[in-house]
Amino acid sequence: MPDRTPCVGGNWKMNTRGGAADALAAAVADRMGGIQEVEVVVFPPAVYLERVSGVLEGTNVEVGGQDISPEDDGAFTGQLSGGMLKDAGCNRVLVGHSERRHGLSEPDELLNAKVHAGLAAGLEVMLCIGETLEEREQGRTGEIVTGQVKADLAGVPAASLQQLTIAYEPVWAIGTGRTASPQDAQAVHELVRGTIGDLYDAGAAEAMRVLYGGSVKTENAAELFAQADIDGGLIGGASLDADAFMAIVEAAASTRVTG
Ligand code: PGA
Repeated sequence: MPDRTPCVGGNWKMNTRGGAADALAAAVADRMGGIQEVEVVVFPPAVYLERVSGVLEGTNVEVGGQDISPEDDGAFTGQLSGGMLKDAGCNRVLVGHSERRHGLSEPDELLNAKVHAGLAAGLEVMLCIGETLEEREQGRTGEIVTGQVKADLAGVPAASLQQLTIAYEPVWAIGTGRTASPQDAQAVHELVRGTIGDLYDAGAAEAMRVLYGGSVKTENAAELFAQADIDGGLIGGASLDADAFMAIVEAAASTRVTG
């Protein structure tokens, strides 16, 4: 039986301001109480990483960056390196969120370099993958997500996989209120896990956490997380409300994956 610790991430995107970010982080930490069985991480806007890290110091809520440069230092205006994220108190980073992969046309080659940069910096990388509505309607979901996993993990050694989480986020479900059905999501998660098995081995596939993202809410979280290959969620809109976010965390705790 796999024993994957569920993980729930809150992607705040370009929301909050300093005081609101502090308050949201404090409210999440307060409500964590005795929850031990879920890893919880928030991804605040870059300018608030340091202050949110300060608020969360000593709690069991982790902090991650929403993006990372593939470079360590240099003439890269506006970008942040892994070392800078670590300095700001992060131990995680998102790579390939649809709002960058599709919204800013970041290609797989760049996302692969970002995965490597995050791993090299000692960050836990949450790699986001997912198909567009058009691709789904063309029946290409499997081909697209498998291709993204293979391209974005190219050259990543098996030993680094413990620093990696995958988030499957169908693009048509992000911020739309339209969620993949638990069965449809499960089918893609199983495929993603199988792809890890093909690229590495069965043990790596069993150990890999694959989160679901895309309009996860208090009302649908438990049913999604109850699926055998769904190991938690990456939450956008609902992560901006501490009560809603923590209800989702509790759903992950109570449907803890046991295979
Ligand atoms: P959503 O966003 O929960 O608002 O759909 C999910 C995400 O972008 O990670």
